[in-house]
Amino acid sequence: MSQLTFTVNGIKVYGNRHEPLLTQLEKAGIKPEYQCRNGICGACRCKLISGSVTQQDALAFIAPNEILSCCSIPQQNIEVHFDYQLNTEHQATKTKIAL
Ligand code: FES
Repeated sequence: MSQLTFTVNGIKVYGNRHEPLLTQLEKAGIKPEYQCRNGICGACRCKLISGSVTQQDALAFIAPNEILSCCSIPQQNIEVHFDYQLNTEHQATKTKIAL
């Protein structure tokens, strides 16, 4: 079993390849917005900056560089960005991104 690293708005958390990203972030104490949890509303969308996910078919409109965190399963280390300040209970240190 291999552990993945997710960088979410500069916060690093660890996860797996078998659960939706939204579920994993919630378990890590990060609380993205959501409504339907099945690809219809688009509330959970975020930008995929690097890495790849497997995304189930969904009805919500998303831009080409976006994913729906409720129905996307990470396949490798990923970096994502939500366009709002996340409600978080996460205790991890923020990572610095070299520009
Ligand atoms: S929560 Fe509705 S599309 Fe993800």
